[in-house]
Amino acid sequence: MKAVVLYWPKGGNTENAAKKIKEVLGDNADIYDIKSFNVDDLDKYDLIITGASTIGAENWEDASNDNEWSRFGNEVRNKDLSGKYVAFFGLGDQVLYPNHFVDVLGVFNDEFSKTNAKIIGRWPTEGYRFTDSDGEENGMFYGLAIDEDNEDHLTEERVKKWVEQLMSEMK
Ligand SMILES: Cc1cc2nc3c(=O)[nH]c(=O)nc-3n(C[C@H](O)[C@H](O)[C@H](O)COP(=O)(O)O)c2cc1C
Repeated sequence: MKAVVLYWPKGGNTENAAKKIKEVLGDNADIYDIKSFNVDDLDKYDLIITGASTIGAENWEDASNDNEWSRFGNEVRNKDLSGKYVAFFGLGDQVLYPNHFVDVLGVFNDEFSKTNAKIIGRWPTEGYRFTDSDGEENGMFYGLAIDEDNEDHLTEERVKKWVEQLMSEMK
C-alpha cells in the first residue's frame, strides 16, 4: 500500500497536520504540498489523502485568493481514480467560525465524488461544538476535522485514530 498526503496551504496548521499524518503512516507514505505535485503522479498511489484549511466559504472555487486547490481541482476533476482510496482532513476553527466549521471537507467530498475513487475516513462530529458545516452529513464529517486554534491537544490522538481507521477501511 502506497499513500500520498497532499496539502495546501504551506507554512501553517495544515502543513503541520499533514506532517503528523505522514509520520503515522510511516515509510509507505509520501508528502507534498500540491504546488510541488504533478497530478499525473496520482497513478502511483493506492491511498490519496488531501488536506486544507477553510478560509472563507468558497475555498475551492476562489481562484483569485491564491488558492492552489482550484487549479488542482480542475486537473483532478476529469481523472478516473477507480480502484483508489481517497480521504480528507480539514483544518478549521469551531469557536470563531461555528457556522462554517471545516466547510472544506464538503468541497473535497464533492470534487472527489466525481472521480470514482472510494472515499473513506468519515469522522463523527461528536465532541465538536459548531452550528453548521458543509463538511458534515448525518453526524459525520466527510473526513477528519482538526481544530488547532482551540483543541490542539487533541490533534495527535485524532490523527492516530483516524489513520488506524483508514487502514481498517482499506481491508
Ligand atoms: C480569514 C480566515 C477565514 C477563516 N474561515 C474559516 C471558516 O470559514 N471555517 C473554519 O472552520 N475555519 C476558518 N478559519 C480558521 C482556519 O481554518 C484555521 O485557523 C486553520 O487552522 C488555519 O490553517 P492554516 O494555518 O494552514 O491556514 C479562517 C481563518 C481565517 C484567517
